[in-house]
This record gives sequence, C-alpha cells and structure tokens, in this order.
Amino acid sequence: MTHLHNNSQLQDFELTRAHPFAPKQLEFIINSTAKWNIAHGSVRSGKTVGTLFRFMEAAFTCPDSQIYMVGHSSETIYGNAIRLLLESEQMAMWRPYCTWQAGKRELKFYDKTIKILGAKDEGAIGQFQGKTMSLVYCDEMTLYPESVIQMIDSRLSNLHSMGFASMNPTYPTHPIKVWIDEAAKGNKDYYSLHFTLDDNPYVDIDYKNRIKNSTSGIFYKRNYLGLWCLAEGAIFDFFDRSLHVVSRPPREADYWIAGIDYGSVNAFACVLIGVSTGIANQLGKQLWVEKEYYWDPKKTGRQKVNSEFADDVVEFLEPYGVKNVYLDPSAEAFSLDLRKRGIHATHANNDVYNGIQAMASDLRNGKVVICANCVNLIREVETYVWDESKAKKGEDAPKKTADHAVDALRYALFTHKVNVYDPYKHKAGHDNWLRDKYTVTR
Ligand SMILES: Nc1ncnc2c1ncn2[C@@H]1O[C@H](COP(=O)(O)OP(=O)(O)OP(=O)(O)O)[C@@H](O)[C@H]1O
Ligand SMILES: [Mg+2]
Repeated sequence: MTHLHNNSQLQDFELTRAHPFAPKQLEFIINSTAKWNIAHGSVRSGKTVGTLFRFMEAAFTCPDSQIYMVGHSSETIYGNAIRLLLESEQMAMWRPYCTWQAGKRELKFYDKTIKILGAKDEGAIGQFQGKTMSLVYCDEMTLYPESVIQMIDSRLSNLHSMGFASMNPTYPTHPIKVWIDEAAKGNKDYYSLHFTLDDNPYVDIDYKNRIKNSTSGIFYKRNYLGLWCLAEGAIFDFFDRSLHVVSRPPREADYWIAGIDYGSVNAFACVLIGVSTGIANQLGKQLWVEKEYYWDPKKTGRQKVNSEFADDVVEFLEPYGVKNVYLDPSAEAFSLDLRKRGIHATHANNDVYNGIQAMASDLRNGKVVICANCVNLIREVETYVWDESKAKKGEDAPKKTADHAVDALRYALFTHKVNVYDPYKHKAGHDNWLRDKYTVTR
C-alpha cells in the first residue's frame, strides 16, 4: 500500500500507476543497452526491481542459454530476485514463463535455463571459471570480492554479452566506481544510473524518514544519499552522552544477554545487556548495557589466564541468568573454559562493517543506551574511528586501538535477534531493513 502525502506526490503516483515502474526505473530499462549496466545508489530506491525486469527482458531475447543470476550468496539471490519473479506485480509478465527448480538452483525461463550462483567469498571464484556468460544479473555487486567481479567481467566474452548490476555504493576506488566513471566519460561499454530514495514512490514518507534517521556518518552518505565515499572520521559521530548514556536502566528486562571480546595481551571485555522486547507494553524494543567487566593488562600491570577470566565472567554474570553469551569467534580455547563452568557461549557473527552499521543504527535510534557506570565502553564508543589508511586501500575497517568493549557489544547486538513487537511492520514491510538486508549472510 502506498501512502501519499501531498499533491505532487499524488501526481507522481498517478504517472507511475499507468505502468508498474517508477520513472527512474523506466529510464534504466530503456537506456541500459551497454555491455555493463549499473544501477547504484540509496537503499530501497528501486534498483533491484528495475534491473531485474530489464535482465528478464534481455533473457527473453537472448539467443542462447548462457544466462546467470548472481547474488552475494545463492540464498540472497533467491530472497532478493527469484522471490520477486515468483510473487511481485512488477514481474507478472514474466511469471507464466518462470519455473523455479529449488533442488537444482535453476530458473527455467521460457525455453532457457538461468543458473543461480553465489559470489560470497574467494572460493566462489571456481564457479565462474571457464564459463562463457551471455547474460548476467548481479545483485548487490559491491558485496562480492573484487576477484569475483573481475572474473565475471572476463566471462562476458560473447559479442552479445551483457551484464546488469545493482548495488549500494562503497568506497570511491572500488572497481565498479571506475566503470561508473567510465560511463560518465562516454565509454559506450558502460551505462550507469544513480538512484535515490526519492526516486522510489512505492515506499512511504514515514519509512524514508526512518531510514534517514537511523543512519549516520558514512552509512548516511552511502545508504541514504547513495554516495561513494571513504570511511573516515568518527564512527559514532552522533554519540552524545546526554542522549545515549543513562544513569539507570530505562526498563525492566525481559531477559539478559552478554558479549565477550577476549584478550590476554590486550584488554578483555564483557558487557551485560538488558533486553526489553516491548511485546508486553507495545513500546518497541529497548536494550541497555547494564554493566561492564574490563581487564586491561597494560593498566593493571598483570595478565590473567583463561581460567581466571572464566571465573570472573561467571561471577560477573552470576545473578542474572543470562539467556545467551556471544563470544569473540576466535576465542576457541576460552569457550571451553566457559563451558566447564556451565556457560555455553555462542560464536558471534564477526562481520565488522555490517555489525557496526547495525549497532550505529540502534544506538542512534535510542534503541540501545549505555548505563553511566560503563566508563570504558563509553570512552571506546567516543574514540572509535575509521582507519583512514585502510580506507584508502579499499577496506572499510575501524582503527585497531581501544575497541574491546565496543567489539563485545557488537558481537551481542549483531548476533542476537530480538523478537520485537513492531507497530509499523504492516505499513512498510521492511522495517528492520538493516537486519533484513544482512541477516541472510549469517
Ligand atoms: N515499480 C515498483 N512498484 C511497486 N513497488 C516497487 C517498485 N519498485 C520497487 N518497489 C518496492 O520498493 C522497495 C525497494 O525496491 P528494490 O528492492 O528494488 O530497491 P533496491 O534499491 O534494490 O533496495 P536495496 O538497496 O535495499 O537492495 C521494495 O519493497 C519493492 O517492492
Ligand atoms: Mg536491491
């Protein structure tokens, strides 16, 4: 259901109702005749729907069956594209010709077979080697390793080969940004179109505002404005003690979770987090860091051994009956020490960029606050910065300084899923969009 707020929006809507696409999507569908055709820009701006439709049109007229659809993983391509083909109104004209063969991970389309591939990691490159591709659709292409991007590019070797790609921007030296620059210089091999949220009349204003307000810094520039920019400066640039630090827990907890970042030479940190799901009071989820355990051998002048840390963690969490403990996935030996004491820790998801993004969104929205006694965590949040030297080499990573309590918090927040009561869910369909977008990679 589309919600309209003013006359100009109404006119836009009337314009687009005559056919099932937004003007920006039509522009892409009509003009994407180059070897590489790239839709890039803000999240939820209609890139996937536009590119996918154009790809199916190209597949319909393709003279052979060397046709591929690529996603970050083969599950994400199912969720983002195949499901659209099987369910959405915009793809209705192709649906009678589509049969999804889940076992083979193939889409029968008319008299052709479209194969599904995942590009998740370096090992995936073998799937692409040796293939000739006439047509390829690449969803979320900036999430692929650069070696896979180069490999796909080299597979488009037929005279009629074409690639269609949609993505959110990343850093400005990314190889796809180089293609976009080529398109801007007039190189006929490349066509690119920049999408912004306002180009999509099918998501309502409230939802657009919520996306706007949940992002900050680099995530705001990349996801909301759709710009290719460097990861630089403070990561939690919005952090304000008067808003994000509280003197006492804001609610009564439904349950507790904890996150642990293991360190022996560096600091060891454990944070205890209270979770209120909002199901009982319909207030939405609220989390808070209730207290921290922090052992920095450089300050205390003494290194502790695993069994001492495990005893400390048991004592620290003792009265709370914690539901889940999320542990640094590299701390294999320490997890055994915890297990001996009855704590079965979960290996945390260590996807740093997406973890920081989810954490920044929750902190900014006030869905996570920190109790004032967590002095080390607060200090780390305030001094957490992007590593500019890595950014220049094309890696989005935080500077490795004091990030122990912050990592412990990230492990817990990003890995744990809160079952929330969400009064807006029926309206936008994608409320928890950061999680929706990235949970599939876990
Ligand atoms: N032509 C359309 N008609 C109706 N709804 C549409 C249309 N185009 C896009 N939408 C809706 O808008 C939302 C975003 O579209 P889409 O997934 O194509 O955006 P995107 O730019 O690929 O997003 P992301 O960056 O998150 O991958 C979806 O819920 C989709 O169903
Ligand atoms: Mg998309």
